[in-house]
Amino acid sequence: MTSKMDSVGIIGIGYVGLVTATCLAELGNHVVCMDIDAEKIANLQQGQIPIYEPGLPELIQKNRERMTFTTTLPEVFSQCEIFFIAIDTPPTFTGDADLRSVFAVVSALPGLSNSHHILVMKSTVPVGTGLKIITKLARQKLDKIDYVSNPEFLREGSAIGDFLNPDRIVIGFRDQESGEKVAALYRKMKAPILKTNIPTAEMIKYASNAFLATKISFINEIANVCEEIGADVTVVAKGMGYDQRIGRHFLNAGIGFGGSCFPKDVTALKQIAGNSGYHFQLLTAVIEVNELQKRRVVNKLKKHLGSLSDKTIALLGLAFKPNTNDLREASSIVLASRLLGDGAYVKAYDPVALPDAARAVRGVLLCDDVLSAVEGSDAVVLVTEWEEFADLPLEKMKQIMRHHLIIDGRNFLDPEKVRAAGFTYEGIGR
Ligand code: UGA
Repeated sequence: MTSKMDSVGIIGIGYVGLVTATCLAELGNHVVCMDIDAEKIANLQQGQIPIYEPGLPELIQKNRERMTFTTTLPEVFSQCEIFFIAIDTPPTFTGDADLRSVFAVVSALPGLSNSHHILVMKSTVPVGTGLKIITKLARQKLDKIDYVSNPEFLREGSAIGDFLNPDRIVIGFRDQESGEKVAALYRKMKAPILKTNIPTAEMIKYASNAFLATKISFINEIANVCEEIGADVTVVAKGMGYDQRIGRHFLNAGIGFGGSCFPKDVTALKQIAGNSGYHFQLLTAVIEVNELQKRRVVNKLKKHLGSLSDKTIALLGLAFKPNTNDLREASSIVLASRLLGDGAYVKAYDPVALPDAARAVRGVLLCDDVLSAVEGSDAVVLVTEWEEFADLPLEKMKQIMRHHLIIDGRNFLDPEKVRAAGFTYEGIGR
C-alpha cells in the first residue's frame, strides 16, 4: 500500500503521458493517470489502449496494479506530491505553441492546499513558459507548488526503450530539493542527469529537435545534389557517419520529416527566436527544404509517366514513420493531395494507420493489403519504411500493375532486386 502522497501523477494521457505513466510504474511507482477525456479513461480502465506503440499494452498489463485512471484533478492532487503535465501543445496559426490546455490545467489546480507539490512539465513548451507558470501559480496563491522542467526525448515507435534507456535526463529547476526529488524518480537509470535552470532545460528540448531536423534537411539537400551528379547519398551518409563528430544517425535521406514533433518544434523555435527579435535563418531553410522534399516525388513520377491525369498511383505506407499509426504532418498527406490535385487516382495501404487515414487523406482509396493497393496502378511510391515492405511480392506486383515503376521514398528497397524483377527503380539521391 502506498502512503498518501507517494504516488506520481500524470495529467494528460496522450502519447507522452501514457508512455511516461507506464514506464514510471515499471520503475516501481504507483501512478495516478488523469485525463479530461472520460471515454479514454473508461477504455483504459477496461485495458483498451488508445495509441499504437510497440510493447506498450504488455507493459501496462504488467504494471496494471500500480496504475490508477481518473478524470478528476483533485484525485491527483490528494495522492501525489509530484505530478507531471503531459498535454499536447499543438502549433497555433502563427506557429507558436498553443499553451491554452496547459494554462487551463494550472488554473484548475485546487487551491487551499497546505501540502507541498511539484509540477513537472513534460510537454514541450516555449522557453520562458516555466517562469510564466511560476508567476501564475503565485497569483493563484499556490506558492507551495514548485515547478520543474523535465523535457521528453521519446520517439514514437520506440518510446518505451527511449524512456527506460535514455541518452540523458534533463531537469530544470529553481528549488534544488524539488529538482533532486524529480531526479530521484530516475535513480535506477544509468543515463547522465543534467541539472540546470528552467529556461535552459526548455531550450535543450527545442535545440535537440531542431538540430535533428536540420540533419535531415541537410542530407535531403545532399541527396538532391547527388541526383544531379550521379552520386549515391546512402553511401555518402555512411562515409560521413564514420566521423564521430558527425555520427550516422538522422542522415537518412527521404521524402521529408513529419510527425507531431519536428515540424511543430522547428516552427515554434523559429517563432520563439522571432518573438524575441532574432531571425533564425537556418531554421527557415530547414522548413522550406522539408516542404519541397515532400513534393519532389511528384516530379519523379511525371518524369516517367508524363501527365499524372488519370494515372493511378499506389502509396505504400501512410504513417509519418514505421511502428506508429500517427499521421500528423505525414509526408503521405501532402503527397496524396498533390497527386489528387494533378488529377491522379491515389490508392494506399498502411499496416496500422488505415483506421485513422480515412479522415486524414480524403479522396484516397484505402486498401487492405499491398496487392490490392498496387493492382492496376501506374506507379508505386514507398512512403513509409514498414518492415513488411522490405520483402515486397515483386513478381505478383509486376503481373497486376499497369506500368512497372517504383519510387522508393525512403531508400528502403534493394535497387538491384527491384530492377531484376523488371521494374524501373528510383530512390532519393541514389
Ligand atoms: C522526435 C525525436 O526524435 C524525439 O527525440 C523527440 O522526443 C520527439 O520528436 C518529440 O519531440 O516528442 P519522433 O517525432 O517520434 O521523435 O520521430 P523520429 O524518429 O525522430 O522521426 C521524425 C521524422 O523524421 C520522421 O518522419 C522520419 O521519417 C524522419 N527521419 C528521421 C528522416 O527523414 N530521416 C532520418 O534520418 C531520421
